[in-house]
Amino acid sequence: MSKIIIKNIKGLVQAGENISLLLRGADMASLPIIEDAYLALENNVVIDYGKMEDWQGIADWRGVEVVDAEGAYVFPAFCDSHTHTVFSSFREGEFVDRIQGLTYEEIALKGGGILNSAQKLSTATANELFDSAVQRIDKLIAGGTGALEIKSGYGLSVDSELKMLRVIKRLKQHYQIPIKATFLGAHAFPKEYKNNPEGYIDTIINEMIPVISTEGLADFIDVFCERNYFSVEQMQRILLAGKNVGLEPKAHVNQFSILGGVKAAVDLGALSVDHLEELGEEDILSLQSSNCIATLLPACSFFLGISFGDARRLIQAEIPICLASDYNPGSAPNHNLFFIWSLACIKLKMTPEEAFNALTVNAAYAMGISETHGKIKIGYTGKIILTNPIPSFAYLPYSFGENNISRIF
Ligand code: NIG
Ligand code: FE
Repeated sequence: MSKIIIKNIKGLVQAGENISLLLRGADMASLPIIEDAYLALENNVVIDYGKMEDWQGIADWRGVEVVDAEGAYVFPAFCDSHTHTVFSSFREGEFVDRIQGLTYEEIALKGGGILNSAQKLSTATANELFDSAVQRIDKLIAGGTGALEIKSGYGLSVDSELKMLRVIKRLKQHYQIPIKATFLGAHAFPKEYKNNPEGYIDTIINEMIPVISTEGLADFIDVFCERNYFSVEQMQRILLAGKNVGLEPKAHVNQFSILGGVKAAVDLGALSVDHLEELGEEDILSLQSSNCIATLLPACSFFLGISFGDARRLIQAEIPICLASDYNPGSAPNHNLFFIWSLACIKLKMTPEEAFNALTVNAAYAMGISETHGKIKIGYTGKIILTNPIPSFAYLPYSFGENNISRIF
């Protein structure tokens, strides 16, 4: 039994019993902060919070740890709803190729990119993949991430996709934080199917999805809908096959081009559409008529030097925004959500509050864990971050690259 009281908190952020499950429009800018506050946790569950002046104290002090948070902020850990954390090795060679002038698309056409990762993953053992993922996940938890989604998609064969998903299943059991698994077999066409794309789609639908369903290996299904990858029509068939066995659709859309994937994913009831570096009027209209979340991945734009998503236009249109790391070896080799927070403020022109909501409340929604994570509410179980003493809340995204965490509960 562990009891913790954090007292004299300068600002207790995102704490309240009536915070919406999904924020959009002007509501994204409002963030509850209780000044001079306390927070009580019992066995990692929120049991009480409020203003110091209202604190009743506790009857039984035995075994209670008291933490004095003088000058510091306390808030819910971030949820990272879009990552590719399981992979075999980093791809810094392609990074150098890009510096020397090649584009991400040119590197992929040469057999680099996702196919490069798939080649490397095919010879890695499940234990090797698990061990390297543990090293990364330990680091990202220490960096403030309290819930994680992980995609397959570096397998691209029945054996390797299942190997990845079984590794993710082991990771779910290994960690106390929620981990959600997304089946992304449709991440790229493997070399063997270059001239037979339909053959690979058949493999996904008839050989991968049935096993994933029987073994309970995924929560979501995702497709990379893009020029030279999967067409809108191919995406629709694959998402539908997943949906038919209970996998909730998500989609990688509009990273480089607008093909109509947003509308198609929304029509299939997608929980989120991710990337959206490019955005058209039709995309806005279809998102407006749904609860689908627009997930922006500014680290990918930063790292590849492509357009940043148009957060202001999405907020203006009352479309809920989520921010995620897209942590992967090719387009975003960084999992630090404090850095994503800074990028969102600097490059997407989101206010510190809007970006924070996008990394907590809306991110929890995009992972289907809104009832337990993303805010501080009685009974909630997510991790809690205590900062170092800092001058103000806005200092957190302002001091980009700095780790302001003092402790994680
Ligand atoms: O989300 N866009 C497609 N997939 C990943 C990148 C994968 C890679 O380059 O390895 C993304 O950016
Ligand atoms: Fe991605």
